[in-house]
Amino acid sequence: MSKYQFTESDIYLPGTDIPRNKLGIDNPELLHEIEAALLQQAYIHFIAELSPTVHFDEEYFKSLHRDTYESLYEWGGHYRSVDMSKGGSLFCRAAYLEQESRRIFRELARERYLQPHAGGTAEAFAERLAHFQSELIALHPFYELNGRITRLFFDLIAIHNGYEPIDYSEALAAGPSGLNAYIEASIQCVQRAESGKLQQIILRGLRKSEAV
Ligand SMILES: Nc1ncnc2c1ncn2[C@@H]1O[C@H](COP(=O)(O)OP(=O)(O)OP(=O)(O)O)[C@@H](O)[C@H]1O
Ligand SMILES: [Mg+2]
Repeated sequence: MSKYQFTESDIYLPGTDIPRNKLGIDNPELLHEIEAALLQQAYIHFIAELSPTVHFDEEYFKSLHRDTYESLYEWGGHYRSVDMSKGGSLFCRAAYLEQESRRIFRELARERYLQPHAGGTAEAFAERLAHFQSELIALHPFYELNGRITRLFFDLIAIHNGYEPIDYSEALAAGPSGLNAYIEASIQCVQRAESGKLQQIILRGLRKSEAV
């Protein structure tokens, strides 16, 4: 069973948006620092583990979340069992998560994890990567850390296809409206099933790897 039966109150400390964690930390800044350190370690680990035969399937995607964060969170690697929204965006209903996830990963496998686009233009590669990233943004399968794990997943796909990890730094920097460009693009993905803005962000952050 891939879904975990957690309710909101199992996930967050009462009256806060601070996730309950195995270290008993209730200081959000400290928690963010630990999350950042774990993510940094995960990049090193998963990049080192990449091999030409890796399958970027649902199990792999979940393993990124689990292996990165299970030392901190009980629900590491588990899909949510509650409906979730952010701003005015409702993500995939919990009841349809499993079937939607299966569809997305089936389509990604059918496109051989973007390998056929690797030799083409960066524009074409960015278009397909943005399409699939947009699908996972709308899925929002985990309770927390969806953005970071989704970007890690596609960074690994980018590396697999001869690119560097994607540079999202401009898009993730806070804009004047308080919403950064990545969130603006995500709103388009979730509310309109359009990945055009996301494609522009990805294209700007894509660079061919110089390694031979
Ligand atoms: N208003 C919104 N509409 C649609 N999607 C949104 C909205 N706000 C956030 N998102 C999406 O949800 C993700 C954040 O999810 P979550 O908080 O689970 O992960 P995170 O790792 O903390 O993300 P991030 O590092 O991107 O802030 C964002 O990266 C974005 O894709
Ligand atoms: Mg978050």
